[in-house]
Amino acid sequence: MEKLAVQGGRPLTGSLRIQGSKNAALPILAATVLAEGHYSIQDVPHLTDISVMLQILTALGAKYTHQDSSVSLDTTSLSSSHIPQHLMGQMRSSIFLMGPLLAKFGEVKVYPPGGCAIGERKIDLHLQGLEALGAQVFENEDHIYCVADQLKGADIKLAYPSVGATENIMMAATLAKGKTIIRNAAKEPEIIDLQEFLNGMGANVCGAGTSVIEIEGVHRLKATGYRVIPDRIVAGTMILAASMTKGDLRLENVKFEHISPLVKIVKECGVEIDHTHDIININSRSLVGSIPFLETGPYPHFPTDMQAQLMAFLSLSSGTSTIRETVFDGRFQHVQQLKKMGARIQTNRNEAIIHGSSTYQGAQVEATDLRAGAALVLAGLAATGTTIITKIHHIDRGYQQIEKQLQQVGASIKRIREET
Ligand code: UD1
Repeated sequence: MEKLAVQGGRPLTGSLRIQGSKNAALPILAATVLAEGHYSIQDVPHLTDISVMLQILTALGAKYTHQDSSVSLDTTSLSSSHIPQHLMGQMRSSIFLMGPLLAKFGEVKVYPPGGCAIGERKIDLHLQGLEALGAQVFENEDHIYCVADQLKGADIKLAYPSVGATENIMMAATLAKGKTIIRNAAKEPEIIDLQEFLNGMGANVCGAGTSVIEIEGVHRLKATGYRVIPDRIVAGTMILAASMTKGDLRLENVKFEHISPLVKIVKECGVEIDHTHDIININSRSLVGSIPFLETGPYPHFPTDMQAQLMAFLSLSSGTSTIRETVFDGRFQHVQQLKKMGARIQTNRNEAIIHGSSTYQGAQVEATDLRAGAALVLAGLAATGTTIITKIHHIDRGYQQIEKQLQQVGASIKRIREET
């Protein structure tokens, strides 16, 4: 067990390159089971979730190396469609393998997926989508078994634009007979990235980024090379880190249009941000202003994955802000921890009122989930004194060596082994 010790009060200055997107890389890695061959995938970050996905692919018969940020993957000897239970339970994204394994092998056996405890995380939309494509789904409390001789294209309307369900159905439909239409599809940038990757494999997918995605099934796909898009949540977290420490930071490998909802808010609070191509510069002197009301929501609305970090930021800015969380029902666990550091936040069900102009003092706090952990790192960077963050395995699921990244731009932060 490890923890982070953050000595706050140092402005972040210098330059950082943003890692590739975890949420884009995971479904892309899952999609590699659709075709045998040799893949070369660039900008894949070293994260626990990525390593679990690669271990699952190995258990299914693939071979890989992951050096620097490049994954070289050979799926020629893939032989199993049974995801081991102990790996499945380690992350929710293991569910992404259902659609592609079903399409490739005609059957798949999975166990209930794990992941961050941020509220109820059902998979009914994934299963309904696969059933619509002709799969028979057998569920008991232990596992889920899906079988289909040949998937068939279907017209599917999602009850909610679920990111994972959209991706799972897209992948399964690439090898289905005929045309599939996904309506009310999720529009996240990671879905466009998956479309580009699948089309690179020879699939016929269009419409990603809009609410209607069309997939014309093909007989065969082939292995390909690909570069994953930059991680918009890591970029957003670093923008807030610079803003909260009154820093002067340059971020490379950023897609500006993917982070515009956050940039708009941060600028409204007095931070200077400019960009050219894939570089953005953040210059922060003082934080003034509040956000009277903000709701998280599916893209292009404000991302739920930035909600905790934004709350840490708004506590420092002046005025009172309100955030309503609409995507997950248990995603305010960071509030209690931020309050230990001096934040003044009241919650009522899925709404939080954040009283600004607070100051953070170092404290011992717990990373209750991935983004909650990121919010605590931000508060620690802006705090007086030392903050000790425990349960940082959650942070390692989404941020590649967060302490090294931050040290590089002047933060005083170190990883230490927790005493037992
Ligand atoms: C993905 C992201 C995650 C992000 C989330 C929302 C990855 C690997 N993870 O997660 O970081 O927080 O999108 O932007 O890309 N739901 C159902 N039934 C389903 C599926 C989802 O009711 O079958 C509900 C969930 O409980 C949740 C909401 O839909 O309340 C959003 O979930 P979804 O968009 O599916 O998120 P994930 O794909 O799990």
